[in-house]
Amino acid sequence: MSGSSFGKAFNITTFGESHGKGIGVVIQGCPPGLLINEDILQNALDKRKPGQGIAGTKRREPDHPVIVSGVFENQTTGTPIMIFIENKDAKSSSYNTIKSLFRPGHGDFSYQSKYGIRDYRGGGRASARETAARVAAGAVAQLVLDQFSIRIQSFTLELGGIRAQKTDQLHLKENNALQCPDPEAAVKMEDRIKAVKDQGDSLGGIVQITATNVPAGIGDPVFDKLDADIAKGLMSIGAVKAVEIGAGIQAPLMTGFENNDQISLQGFETNHSGGILAGISNGDNIIARVHVKPIPSILKQQNTIDTKGNPAVISTQGRHDISAIPRINMVCESMMAIVLADHILRQKSLK
Ligand SMILES: Cc1cc2nc3c(=O)[nH]c(=O)nc-3n(C[C@H](O)[C@H](O)[C@H](O)COP(=O)(O)O)c2cc1C
Repeated sequence: MSGSSFGKAFNITTFGESHGKGIGVVIQGCPPGLLINEDILQNALDKRKPGQGIAGTKRREPDHPVIVSGVFENQTTGTPIMIFIENKDAKSSSYNTIKSLFRPGHGDFSYQSKYGIRDYRGGGRASARETAARVAAGAVAQLVLDQFSIRIQSFTLELGGIRAQKTDQLHLKENNALQCPDPEAAVKMEDRIKAVKDQGDSLGGIVQITATNVPAGIGDPVFDKLDADIAKGLMSIGAVKAVEIGAGIQAPLMTGFENNDQISLQGFETNHSGGILAGISNGDNIIARVHVKPIPSILKQQNTIDTKGNPAVISTQGRHDISAIPRINMVCESMMAIVLADHILRQKSLK
């Protein structure tokens, strides 16, 4: 019934709303004996914190994670881990003027249709605030992956239609707030954000996520294929409209000969498969790209209706990101970690 849980062997349930007391996650299936403390979680949460660079909201949340259960003397105990993050900087009054209006591009209309009631403050459960809980869970999942030296990294490939051309030196992404490894593209992206912000509008983009050192043999055909679960995990993040694996949308443009990853004694000669064949990892890097829509909350006036069905005009005030990028990058890494930890643990129970 509930849509708030994800994963089978490594299972997470997130809870909470944007302007409620807080948000959090319950993790079941995490193995015992993993070294953990709140600093590890905080380090991960700081990477998605609001207020990073020009694209970010002005809402300032410390995102301090409290480990409520499942940890004893800095080790996981194998019992459910609950992590709670208090909401400290919610300003609900800015939503008073639009509480009876359906914001275009938001979940307002669909939540109202489904539940007959909605927490209009900051998007309630649909808010990206929920993704902080995923990042906390992702940090725990990464502890499982650390045992296999599996590493997950993301970068901004495109923002507002500007595409990074140089992506081979990933460390360069640390030099700009947009997490783009191409310095020239990063400058153009910033300029584009400034221009669009001045117009009261917003931008989308594309994030690429790579997982390295994933052993061959992970993934459960046919419905729990690794690529299917990665796509589901990433698609469940707000604002994500498409997920590509490997060559993705370029694959239909190639011939079979061009698209096949030929195999030599050294391994696969190319990686169009994105590290997954028939739903099972092949030992190559897992590569996914996430296509993110522009932030729906914009100052520009838009047509809408109110809850009584009358036509209205709305301009969304409040504190909002101009783009979900780069904050979504860490959320994508976290969802990838959760999917891989889940499938690694499933595989462990098989052998
Ligand atoms: C990291 C991140 C930050 C976001 N920030 C905002 C924001 O500040 N304002 C906003 O209106 N939407 C924001 N969104 C997008 C909305 O949460 C999302 O578009 C909305 O809930 C509707 O869901 P959908 O786009 O999946 O249909 C953000 C999404 C993510 C992943």
